[in-house]
Amino acid sequence: MGSPGPGLLSLVPFVSVDHMMRIVWDIGPERMIVELAAYIEEDFRRWELFDKTPRIAAHSAEGVIELMPTSDGATYGFKYVNGHPRNAAAGRQTVTAFGVLSHVDSGYPMLISEMTVLTALRTAATSALAARVLAPPGAKTMAIIGNGAQCEFQAIAFKALAGIEAVRLHDIDPKATAKAAANLAGSGLAVVSCRSSEEAILGADIVTTCTADKRFATILTDNMIGAGVHLNAIGGDSPGKTELHRDILLRSEIFVEYAPQTRIEGEIQQLDPSHPVTELWRVLTGLAPGRRDRAQITLFDGVGFAIEDFSALRYIRDQIGRTGEYVNLDLLADPDDPRDLFGMLLRHRPG
Ligand SMILES: NC(=O)c1ccc[n+]([C@@H]2O[C@H](COP(=O)([O-])OP(=O)(O)OC[C@H]3O[C@@H](n4cnc5c(N)ncnc54)[C@H](O)[C@@H]3O)[C@@H](O)[C@H]2O)c1
Repeated sequence: MGSPGPGLLSLVPFVSVDHMMRIVWDIGPERMIVELAAYIEEDFRRWELFDKTPRIAAHSAEGVIELMPTSDGATYGFKYVNGHPRNAAAGRQTVTAFGVLSHVDSGYPMLISEMTVLTALRTAATSALAARVLAPPGAKTMAIIGNGAQCEFQAIAFKALAGIEAVRLHDIDPKATAKAAANLAGSGLAVVSCRSSEEAILGADIVTTCTADKRFATILTDNMIGAGVHLNAIGGDSPGKTELHRDILLRSEIFVEYAPQTRIEGEIQQLDPSHPVTELWRVLTGLAPGRRDRAQITLFDGVGFAIEDFSALRYIRDQIGRTGEYVNLDLLADPDDPRDLFGMLLRHRPG
């Protein structure tokens, strides 16, 4: 007699990269970003209910590995994510991630999922959600500085959620811009490839920065940003890793996800810790205003917060039954008598 197979309580649904890509194409990338934004907005509207902590970061000379936990009291989630700007040169992603969603009452995981693709989708969804309340009315053109892995996701999110019709691309590596322009060719967006950041921001109502560099970089200087622009800065997301000149921050109305984390990681690490910022959930719930007038410079200092990943995992959990895009992993030991873990091991002795 062979050993009995894993029992029902052993099994946890696992969504691989391949499953995730099938889910994205089943729903359609734009529609999925719109639906993810709705899940994120729903969770931001019940912000006060969540356990919140700045993410736990392990820094090295090459990059950072982070854990991002949160819970709404019934469901717990966390994401493992790295950020290694020099990875691309070795053929690896700058950012990779996976995550887990669990039942708080039993502590048993209900889902384990790839989150590299999902992070790009949720980051774009969050950026576009912020732009809906912060961008100047009638914004049609967005510049994207940094045309790596996140770029196209940002472009299609702003088309789907913020009415963007044209994107102006720039990267210090022209191959990255050519890649993004080719990928966006069938997107319905007008795409212009630019030789400099200065050229890219010409006529742009929204400027997205998504560069990767493990140091204080100055992608945008103060003289480049005129009245009325909305800045969506997502590449400055770690201590010592920023994209905007400090003077731009001093002229902007600044919006963040979770201030205690953004003060450590975001553009605002360059400012005094008491500098006023508004958390996005307060705008989405009507507790604080978004953009107040046409001339204002608004800045979404996005670093990525655990609740966005929780929402994204919640969304995927709701898709897997219908799509069947998962496999069950034999992840949890399940002895017949819960206290007889050693007995289970004995019964599986080979030979
Ligand atoms: N805020 C969030 O939630 C969030 C989520 C995911 C990624 N990120 C961050 O976004 C950034 C981009 O991520 P990615 O996965 O696209 O990285 P990536 O390495 O794939 O792409 C980064 C691109 O930036 C370009 N670049 C570097 N310096 C530049 C400069 N001075 N001017 C113009 N282009 C420049 C590089 O050539 C590269 O093409 C990273 O810093 C990452 O940590 C943030």
